[in-house]
Amino acid sequence: MKTGEVISKRRKELGLTQRQLADLLGISFQAVSKWENERVYPDVVMLPKLAAALDTTVDALLGYSGKAAEYDRKYEAEGYYWGLKPNPVCYDIMKIMPPIKPYRVLDMGCGEGKDAVFFAKCGYAVTAFDVSEQGIEKAKRLAAHNQVNIRFFKADIFDYRPDTDYDIIFSSGTLHFVPEVQRKELFDRLKVHTADKGIHAMNVFVEKPFIDPAPDLTQEEKKGKLWRSGELFTYYHDWLFHACKEEVFDCNSGGIPHKHCMDTLIAQRRACSPLSAPSSGSHASLS
Ligand SMILES: C[S@@+](CC[C@H](N)C(=O)[O-])C[C@H]1O[C@@H](n2cnc3c(N)ncnc32)[C@H](O)[C@@H]1O
Repeated sequence: MKTGEVISKRRKELGLTQRQLADLLGISFQAVSKWENERVYPDVVMLPKLAAALDTTVDALLGYSGKAAEYDRKYEAEGYYWGLKPNPVCYDIMKIMPPIKPYRVLDMGCGEGKDAVFFAKCGYAVTAFDVSEQGIEKAKRLAAHNQVNIRFFKADIFDYRPDTDYDIIFSSGTLHFVPEVQRKELFDRLKVHTADKGIHAMNVFVEKPFIDPAPDLTQEEKKGKLWRSGELFTYYHDWLFHACKEEVFDCNSGGIPHKHCMDTLIAQRRACSPLSAPSSGSHASLS
């Protein structure tokens, strides 16, 4: 994203007018308008002040997405930050929809690709994306090492629009970035691109008063709000639940022991049985 777009997007997310932002910075609103229209760039000495006013970072203002930058750094190391063992949910998915044919899997926020590669090795046709360039590059290397073909690309879940239907949509450890107001819209969009009897398998970190925030949260995560306990399930009230659980577990990511609470859902889309069938006369009959 260009600097002007970032400024405009963040300003609107904070509910500020151009004039209000200008007042915070002690400049004219025309200057803000010129930045947003890409007619001029903000002066470098203004950047830290502007970043603070927009509750973001200078990196993000310059188009290096904060969330990607922090994950990029995590993924720069030689090893695999999240390990190479597939998420246990992958096995649950396999039991419900075994790869008797190359069912189409979408892995959103695939990180370094451990789950995408696992699915591909099992015979699924996998598409996977992440906002982190480093993550995608590492995932491509892991796929090559395992001699599987996966359609990997860099994308932000907020802008991503599926270009085809999927049998399985999976996302682990990523959806907590989605602000509450955008959650229903995201799930509605994904549901439209899900084949009949298709599966969604998702997990989200949820808030519990007795669990402290994780010590290795990224700046982006610190800004966001965790999900309400049980909230994920409400978006799928009209689907068949195969698994629906909440668990507290120990985690050592970043080298500091801490706890998380996570809700996990595996739900399946079922075609609705028609309540009424069209009839030749004026009466609809129940079937
Ligand atoms: C906790 S990691 C999980 C990675 C992977 N799913 C796994 O379990 O190994 C979260 C991932 O979400 C990605 N992510 C964060 N915000 C994102 C966004 N807006 N769009 C796409 N991916 C995002 C991060 O880059 C990171 O790789």
